[in-house]
Amino acid sequence: MLAKESAGGKPTPIRVALLGCGTVGTEVVRLLTDQAGDLAARIGAPIELAGIAVRRPNKHREVPEHLLTTDASALVKSDDVDVVVEVIGGIDPTRGLLLEALHNGKSVVTANKALLAEHGSDLFEAADGSGADLYFEAAVAGAIPLLRPLRESLAGDRITRVMGIVNGTTNFILSAMDATGAGYAETLEEASRLGYAEADPTADVDGFDAASKAAILASLAFHTRVTAADVYREGIRQVSAADIAAAKGLGRTVKLLAICERVVSPSGQESVAVRVHPAMIPRTHPLASVNGAFNAVFVEADAAGEMMFYGQGAGGAPTASAVLGDLVAVARNKVASGRGPRESAYAALPAQPMGNTPTRYHISLDVADKAGVLSQVAAVFAEHDVSIAAVRQEGRTEDASLVIVTHAATDAALRSTVDKVGGLPVVRDVVSVMRVEGEE
Ligand code: HSE
Repeated sequence: MLAKESAGGKPTPIRVALLGCGTVGTEVVRLLTDQAGDLAARIGAPIELAGIAVRRPNKHREVPEHLLTTDASALVKSDDVDVVVEVIGGIDPTRGLLLEALHNGKSVVTANKALLAEHGSDLFEAADGSGADLYFEAAVAGAIPLLRPLRESLAGDRITRVMGIVNGTTNFILSAMDATGAGYAETLEEASRLGYAEADPTADVDGFDAASKAAILASLAFHTRVTAADVYREGIRQVSAADIAAAKGLGRTVKLLAICERVVSPSGQESVAVRVHPAMIPRTHPLASVNGAFNAVFVEADAAGEMMFYGQGAGGAPTASAVLGDLVAVARNKVASGRGPRESAYAALPAQPMGNTPTRYHISLDVADKAGVLSQVAAVFAEHDVSIAAVRQEGRTEDASLVIVTHAATDAALRSTVDKVGGLPVVRDVVSVMRVEGEE
């Protein structure tokens, strides 16, 4: 079907409301302006900005001033708007604005991971009710085309695992700790000074940002509604210089990973395990060479095998690239009077609690160097049915460093093992405990 034509025989423009005009919003406006001709040719109709909702209209921005408004609510309700692009972030008032837009049949392009991870199903229901589109490529891993491959390109396959680095701030900090041997606090300070960490870094360093992204990835990969509350989350505040040194000693490095897995029980019951935590990975693993503020995500599917997606996970222009890609898709759908993919949550797999999830641990202990110590430590592992994969001991004068890497066991069994080992009189200190990923 061809684009609707206005009276003059030209295609009717697609009118866009932009909510938010910070770093990403400004880049969206710039790309829309600079590439107007190409975008119109690709879509079959021109894109026009109907308005830009901002909180502080007097702040200097490189955007047409006459488009600015503080009344976001009126803008999304306007009959003059076909598509709403949201780059404000946060849950309120954004949630109400996007629901209003969708209820009124206006398609939405959003970069809002927190909103999607908490209220994605409400947004999808509103979109279904009016036949509108909901696209959100920029919500996870910035510029990297990842959600569309999961939602569309791999829709014929069975995805088993998605594992990646989806937070640039924490990756920058961990990469720097690995390079310099410095501790967490001083590296965070340096990251803030260089502008790589926000003034309030909580969402990043405590893993909330990565957990929202993991929920979105798991929902798409496993056709199941997964919210941020279903995601087990540990941030990087507890990662010490000793952890990094222990990892290095074993040819590994530490990364904050988002891991979404399809778990199949011995009886064939499937569930979904989604977690965010620091983990040691081999330095030879492709994710180990993802340094600084970059993101990378590994996807494993039955037929396709392993795939890796890599690129810039944040920043104005990279994020705007993903927003524009979605805007073109939504506009093309509109021109063709069609719709993009709807929510696919038919599988409705249960969420696996972290305690039941199989993981592997690296444990580094300072122990007394005398007869029988190793057997006492090993006995605790055996008691908890945790199988040891590797042990390395280095003697000193009166004590020794004992490094143990386990085979996979439930996280609950591994935690109990560490608690009990830490209480043994022959164990002077538990120097480092960290999960191990990317091998076996
Ligand atoms: N704060 C995020 C990061 C970018 O550090 O990767 C936005 O999701």
